[in-house]
Amino acid sequence: MEKYSIEVQNLTKKFGTFTAVDDISFNVKEGEILGFLGPNGAGKTTTIKVLCGLLIPTKGDVFVENYDIRKDVEKIKTIIGYMSQKFSLYTDLTVYENIKFYAGIYGVDREEAKIKEIIEMLDIEEYKNTITAELPAGIRQRVALATAFIHSPKILFLDEPTAGVDPVLRRKFWAIIKKWAQQGTTILVTTHYMDEAENCNRIALINQGKLVDIGEIDEIKGKFIKGNILCVELSENYVKEFNTLKKIEMPVKDISLHGSIVHIIQDIDIEEAKKKIKDYCKTKEIKYKNIFEDKPSLEDIFINLIRKKS
Ligand SMILES: Nc1ncnc2c1ncn2[C@@H]1O[C@H](COP(=O)(O)OP(=O)(O)O)[C@@H](O)[C@H]1O
Ligand SMILES: [Mg+2]
Repeated sequence: MEKYSIEVQNLTKKFGTFTAVDDISFNVKEGEILGFLGPNGAGKTTTIKVLCGLLIPTKGDVFVENYDIRKDVEKIKTIIGYMSQKFSLYTDLTVYENIKFYAGIYGVDREEAKIKEIIEMLDIEEYKNTITAELPAGIRQRVALATAFIHSPKILFLDEPTAGVDPVLRRKFWAIIKKWAQQGTTILVTTHYMDEAENCNRIALINQGKLVDIGEIDEIKGKFIKGNILCVELSENYVKEFNTLKKIEMPVKDISLHGSIVHIIQDIDIEEAKKKIKDYCKTKEIKYKNIFEDKPSLEDIFINLIRKKS
């Protein structure tokens, strides 16, 4: 039998009459990285807070390493690490002092050795004695990660850990996360950077409190997008030209704008579709740099999904 680190059964969380998390069920395997993806307000943070024992479920059951969240919340708190979306560090302490503070809370054994180890692991030695308020965002995030992992938790909850961090540091951050998962840590991570989802073993798509789908990325891609994607790279006036392009007479399943590139999901023959688009652009004087076929990105899927449901 598969060992689950986290089991969520029909979880609902209401705030007054408002339902923030609506009857969701899923499991996370030991050593798995599960990505929680969804727009703002989808219910990601609320779900994590329930799983950490910070909020009591309105309905449903949650088990963390077989401990019942309603009964054994104190036990659960000792085996999890939580990096909250809001900044969790003391800005007037140094990096070292922040980590030491959390090590104290968790009663970490061999405290100094552990602190040294995590500082090395996260490559933040040069900032050890810097006041936290003065750190660049990417480094702060790493320090927050250090405090969440100082007691070597079995499970790590990361709520938008890379928000506002530049791509290079984000990549480094993910390399660390993946290493920990390989060593057996179970990780539940939220993000709205769709490209980061590729680092997860499975992803859960959340929208308006509901679990829209969960599975491996390719599996989800295959399920939702049948047909192909044509990309039209516009030269100028992206929004205006996009709005014109939307009116094309062709069986389009979905059309969306990603920066300067319009994604058209459609299922007629690709060459025929290209020709239709080219002709249309010519008639409407839409200036474009390039038209090419692409694989669906998670963003396409997400937009497609949310439109379908609403
Ligand atoms: N303590 C609270 N009281 C009332 N409403 C809340 C509270 N916390 C979150 N919400 C609402 O629940 C919904 C889900 O929020 P949240 O879980 O933070 O979403 P996400 O993390 O996906 O952006 C939002 O509409 C939010 O305003
Ligand atoms: Mg959130």
